[in-house]
Amino acid sequence: MRLLVTGGCGFIGSNFIRDMLSRHDDLTIVNLDALTYAGNRQSLADVEAAYAPERYVFARGDIANSELALHLFERHAIEAVVNFAAETHVDRSITDAAPFIRTNVAGTQALLDAARAFGIGRFVHVSTDEVYGSLGPEGKFTEDTPLAPNSPYSASKAGADLLVRAANETYGLDTVITRCSNNYGPYQFPEKLIPLMFSRAMADEALPVYGDGANVRDWIHVADHCRGVELALLKGRPGAVYNFGGDAEKPNIEVVRAILAALGKPESLIRFVTDRPGHDRRYAMDFTKASRELGFTPQYDFTRGIAETVAWYRQNGAWLESVQSGAYRQFMDKWYGGRA
Ligand code: NAD
Ligand code: DAU
Repeated sequence: MRLLVTGGCGFIGSNFIRDMLSRHDDLTIVNLDALTYAGNRQSLADVEAAYAPERYVFARGDIANSELALHLFERHAIEAVVNFAAETHVDRSITDAAPFIRTNVAGTQALLDAARAFGIGRFVHVSTDEVYGSLGPEGKFTEDTPLAPNSPYSASKAGADLLVRAANETYGLDTVITRCSNNYGPYQFPEKLIPLMFSRAMADEALPVYGDGANVRDWIHVADHCRGVELALLKGRPGAVYNFGGDAEKPNIEVVRAILAALGKPESLIRFVTDRPGHDRRYAMDFTKASRELGFTPQYDFTRGIAETVAWYRQNGAWLESVQSGAYRQFMDKWYGGRA
């Protein structure tokens, strides 16, 4: 298969490309990535060394540029698309929604237009559980849960999901939407909870926990999510939506304590800070449909996953350092400066 992956220099995309190329000898991947603050070509240095240029090609560019997408489709005879590219951080969407609308909404539509014009055989759109909004203490999100996004980020992802649905209904484009819970694992940008807490704890800096720390996320190891996306690509029904989750619901404070324990650092580093506005209380995924139709089952339990993840960040301090640019530090100072 000849696959266009977008956002492949980000956290999940880079894990997906590495895993797919190592297990499918007949696969070629073109990675279209704009290299925003969250995209890092270094995350795929080993892949470039092993597979470029025969089975791996990097193209720097914006998914909102339909002409570039069409050019890549033609030049590389692309058969399918997996769209990971997005602005992904909820806190950034609260300070400025514009890039989220540009990439997640307008960018997705531009890519759909190019896919339709070229006649792409399958378009997998990677979405999120956040489009469903927030749960109370009971119940889980199913694919039939109404969309009720609460942040500019999740609203932009819900908008994209609706445009993907429309491309399937109106033009018959073969689309599949995946919605996954919170990922963790190697190569995650250190603005997200787990690598942020790791990096601050290592530097003996205070760990900012929003609100009362009792918000719950359903954590899934990135390798399990990637396997789900692969299954959706190869076996998903046209027009279908599939939920993926890790069966590992944890309050944030428990996750932070687990990281401190793994590092042998004191809990006195924890600081409860001003809550995130519109902070969703709880996410939990019912992924029965993906298990039944695709054979999806998460393999990692959280204890093993977090131990491996902490070990990876410990061994890859240079990677962590290399992605923390001046602009990153500016955002962090501004955001956390207002919350202490
Ligand atoms: P990330 O922020 O780590 O990476 C995003 C990547 O997209 C970066 O490489 C960036 O350079 C690229 N990008 C951004 N705008 C672009 C544009 N206009 N054109 C081309 N490339 C662009 O994101 P992630 O955490 O790997 O998430 C990937 C996808 O998975 C996103 O669509 C996200 O909504 C979804 N998702 C993430 C999670 C999670 O826990 N991280 C969970 C469920 C779904
Ligand atoms: O659920 C899937 C989503 O998970 C993805 O769609 C998003 O792209 C991804 O960013 C993630 O969103 P969250 O907002 O859940 O992830 P984040 O790592 O930002 O926060 C996880 C939880 O930890 C959340 O309840 C907020 C809290 N938190 C986060 C940060 C950064 C803190 O308490 N302190 C922090 O400093």
